[in-house]
Amino acid sequence: MERKLRHIAIPSSEITPKSLYLSRRDWLKAMGIVSAAALLAACLPQREPTPVETGAGTRSGHVPTDELGDPANTFDEITNYNNYYEFSTDKRAVNRLSANFKSTPWAVEVGGLVHKPKTYALEDLLKFEQVERVYRLRCVEGWSMVIPWMGFELNKLLKEVEPMASARYVRFVALLDPEQFPGQRSPFYPWPYTEGLRLDEAMHRLTLIATGLYGELLPNPNGAPLRLVVPWKYGFKSIKAIVRIELTEEQPATLWNTVAPHEYGFYANVNPEVDHPRWSQRTERRIGEIGRRPTLLFNGYGDEVAGLYAGMDLRVNY
Ligand code: MTE
Repeated sequence: MERKLRHIAIPSSEITPKSLYLSRRDWLKAMGIVSAAALLAACLPQREPTPVETGAGTRSGHVPTDELGDPANTFDEITNYNNYYEFSTDKRAVNRLSANFKSTPWAVEVGGLVHKPKTYALEDLLKFEQVERVYRLRCVEGWSMVIPWMGFELNKLLKEVEPMASARYVRFVALLDPEQFPGQRSPFYPWPYTEGLRLDEAMHRLTLIATGLYGELLPNPNGAPLRLVVPWKYGFKSIKAIVRIELTEEQPATLWNTVAPHEYGFYANVNPEVDHPRWSQRTERRIGEIGRRPTLLFNGYGDEVAGLYAGMDLRVNY
């Protein structure tokens, strides 16, 4: 039984723009739908926690930990050290530059090889069962964080649109809007940001569409209002500000794989044995810590996901 969101601390703020306030109310309403189930879950006999069900907490409450016992990074760390090239290549500038990003209203078009294509308003997506997941995020650059996400399993959405038998991959497309994204005025990247997963990876229970963190709606620097989270892969797979999800037969092109195919593979599974051409992937720096720690195969989620790659050469399929 999944442990559901039990409490959310959203400060009532007089300066919250009305549109955002309304969407927050919808979100809370969606949360209300799961709270009764959460109460029931608390009465059920306990079982060993799986990697992800350790409790997300709130920004001001207890510090959540991942299943390895490591504490989550602080809200300030998570929202002030961001890769979001649409805004800037300077991680510390993203928070300021994204302050006025307009994430509502928002819609996501789901199509391609599906029987029931549909455009979902953000409010519709918040009605999928929202769960809390404390995941490690390992960036290919060699740093990591622990983040208490909220969101829904992507498989819930994919099942609803009914993939055709020919669908083998899922392509994700981020917003194209050079008015709001100064970085998209740069010709160096093939905008919009795109990413892809194999369909079985996308259907895996650990694969989330995040809608919030630390009990709050997803902050702008982290990809408001919706971003992908695939915890066993390098962070660049976790595309922010998604507007389109498309099922395809062929492996889709992705931004980083197009820009530098030898550096950024399609699979991008965290693997300390396979170095990036310009640096080792053996260790990582946890933001907020001094020194480095060993990097874990599949970012520590191997028990759950290694089976997806049985028989594959992970050096070739990097
Ligand atoms: N998504 C978009 N649209 N644009 C980006 O530049 N950067 C990626 C990924 N998703 C990126 C993106 C990279 S390289 C990483 S490591 C993670 O977002 C960082 O997520 P975080 O800022 O929430 O830690």
